[in-house]
Amino acid sequence: MAVASKAAEEASQSTFASRLATDARLKTLAATMKRHQYQPDALIEVLHTAQELFGYLDPDLLLHVANSLKLPPSRVYGVATFYHFFSLKPKGEHTCVVCMGTACYVKGAATLVKTVEELAGVKSGETRADGKLSLIQARCIGACGIAPALVLDGQVVGKQSPESVVHHLKGWLEHGSHGTP
Ligand code: FES
Repeated sequence: MAVASKAAEEASQSTFASRLATDARLKTLAATMKRHQYQPDALIEVLHTAQELFGYLDPDLLLHVANSLKLPPSRVYGVATFYHFFSLKPKGEHTCVVCMGTACYVKGAATLVKTVEELAGVKSGETRADGKLSLIQARCIGACGIAPALVLDGQVVGKQSPESVVHHLKGWLEHGSHGTP
């Protein structure tokens, strides 16, 4: 199963690599990063440009920005999911990103996705009907040492279990609070 996950990851990355050569928006984004000399400090500005160009920040795009600025993907996911002006496609009041990279996958990430789907009544990649929660899957976010990892409203949390996920999300779903995960 981990092999299948890895193969899907590689296939997606090679699709993105071919987009790099042909998608003019990526060339514009590259020019922006070059103008900032690929400085990690330029992350927010680069993400703004990416969102203006693409409308939202999909996982491949975030990984591309992380690689280009030599930042850990977890940092880029953290910033992109923390600020409300960034959208990773469906944007709810709260965002739960589940890492499905190989290290997290072998430690039960798929069960975590199922747990969130059942608890919140939302499908992966979508936002709940009441707008309270968006569930997103990502590839490796650079926190393999604490797999399986999630990003909850911009904060990376590791070594998760179905029980801990329920604990984190219940408050959001019942009270809609913005408490710390
Ligand atoms: S595979 Fe999940 S953080 Fe690396």
